[in-house]
Amino acid sequence: MVNLKIGQLSLPGRVILAPMSGVTNSLFRRIAKRYGAALVFTEAISAEGLIRGNPRTLLMLKFQEEERPIGIQLLGSGPEAMAQAAQIVARFKPDLIDLNFGCPARKVTRKGAGAALLKDFDLCKRIIERVTKVSSFPITLKMRTGWNSNSIVALQLAKLAEDYGIKGIIIHGRTASQRFSGEANWEIIARVKEEVSIPVIGNGDVNTPERAQKMILTTGCDGVMIGRGALGNPWIFTQIQAHLNGETLPQPPSLREKLELCLQHYRMALEEMGEFKAVREMRKHIAWYTKGFPQSASLKRKVYEMESSAEVMEKLMLYGKHIIQERSNGIG
Ligand SMILES: Cc1cc2nc3c(=O)[nH]c(=O)nc-3n(C[C@H](O)[C@H](O)[C@H](O)COP(=O)(O)O)c2cc1C
Repeated sequence: MVNLKIGQLSLPGRVILAPMSGVTNSLFRRIAKRYGAALVFTEAISAEGLIRGNPRTLLMLKFQEEERPIGIQLLGSGPEAMAQAAQIVARFKPDLIDLNFGCPARKVTRKGAGAALLKDFDLCKRIIERVTKVSSFPITLKMRTGWNSNSIVALQLAKLAEDYGIKGIIIHGRTASQRFSGEANWEIIARVKEEVSIPVIGNGDVNTPERAQKMILTTGCDGVMIGRGALGNPWIFTQIQAHLNGETLPQPPSLREKLELCLQHYRMALEEMGEFKAVREMRKHIAWYTKGFPQSASLKRKVYEMESSAEVMEKLMLYGKHIIQERSNGIG
């Protein structure tokens, strides 16, 4: 089995959970980890928020030992602020720090952060230089391929990043202006891989073991990062790793297994967040866990209207019984 090393950090595999705002909190990361993610990331954390001591931002830094190895992702546009934020983050002793050079959201890019950095090479250089100087952790950089199709900067930026001490490149094969439309361009990932000697992690549209293997074979990337493919589907990490190792693929999870994990996730959320927040947090996860099963759209509609966790959990159990019964009767 070929594993991945980023700076001094050795990872137990090559399949990585993507940072996702509003999704990859500590609870989600622990689940991904238990199901085989070799590395997990926090969602993007605002450097300015950390410096101001914003309690909600600081809370996003918290993680548990079982999540390791973990990367904390920083979002910002000022070299000084990013360096200061990296020093704050260092107190929490993550395994690595990632710099977000890819977020296309307007509220982020209008402040010059995220993917807007792809338009200002000099600023990129100064951020990288300052952050790598103050950090003793490996620093990675997650980017899109460019601002738009007329300004593909991935190769140049990856090279610059390597020259200034970045230890790994994560590349989502889309431009910022594409957002999530079209297909991820794996060709650019392959070219970046040829350009640098630090590890390159490919990202974009990997949602099956076969696609993961195809990405590795066609781009030569050292690891794959999974975002949307892991929603309601943490099994994907073990499945991909097994496929890459040439092992027999484990059976895909049944509806029963999915609902069991969903309920377990729900109970953990209740314990950690309390009733009000957990009920809201779990709505999207229920939709993801049950996606593609019969009557899941109507289940989702009902769950989104429910305010009580007991009611939602009861509904989930009834749904499971009903669908499994229908299947054993040969319906659905
Ligand atoms: C809901 C959501 C939130 C995201 N938040 C972040 C983020 O905070 N930081 C980041 O670098 N990328 C973020 N991304 C982008 C993902 O990390 C990843 O690059 C993208 O989804 C492509 O990978 P996929 O095709 O496997 O989903 C987010 C994506 C989604 C769907």
